[in-house]
Amino acid sequence: MLALPPMNPAPNLVLVGPMGSGKSAVGRRLAGRLGLTHVDADHFIVERVGASIPEIFARAGERGFREYERAALEELLAGEGLLVSAGGGTVLREDNRRQMRERSFVVYLQVAPDVQLQRIGQDPNRPLLQTTDPCRTLTELAAVREPLYREVADLCFDTNHLSTADVCLRLGTRLNRHWQCNRTTS
Ligand code: S3P
Repeated sequence: MLALPPMNPAPNLVLVGPMGSGKSAVGRRLAGRLGLTHVDADHFIVERVGASIPEIFARAGERGFREYERAALEELLAGEGLLVSAGGGTVLREDNRRQMRERSFVVYLQVAPDVQLQRIGQDPNRPLLQTTDPCRTLTELAAVREPLYREVADLCFDTNHLSTADVCLRLGTRLNRHWQCNRTTS
């Protein structure tokens, strides 16, 4: 029997999805399992800029933050063997989506707004959720972003009823079957 060719044999793996979809927690655990180096894009930006995400939003606005985010993604995806947990809004820019498609296998971690809220709680580190009705905000963000997550994704994975450990286990198995990390250096 012929083996199926791997889907998009790219040099990096990127997790996209809304806030609270588990990109950071899953990314940390999954990277070890797949022999990749984990980078949380938000942490990378915070280190580079020397300010927290709320401070960056306060000083530079969302527009300024998105520029840091674009630069971080470009720098990270120039590398190989990375598992990047991208911030929830990274897919908004066309150039980011193109970078991801060209340089990575993209997994969309799906989650419903009510589950997001349970996972996130009242997190002061998420400036976009400092509103009177965070559930409504999450629903509005999802209406705009869901098609973009789908557009960029090689694989969609529903996390709604799964623990982080279960997501890693099941997603890891699927990735082992369908994705081969295509490094030019060993
Ligand atoms: C954002 C998501 C956050 C962070 C910033 C903006 C967004 O990352 O990048 O607060 O626009 O959805 P997480 O998705 O890791 O929470």
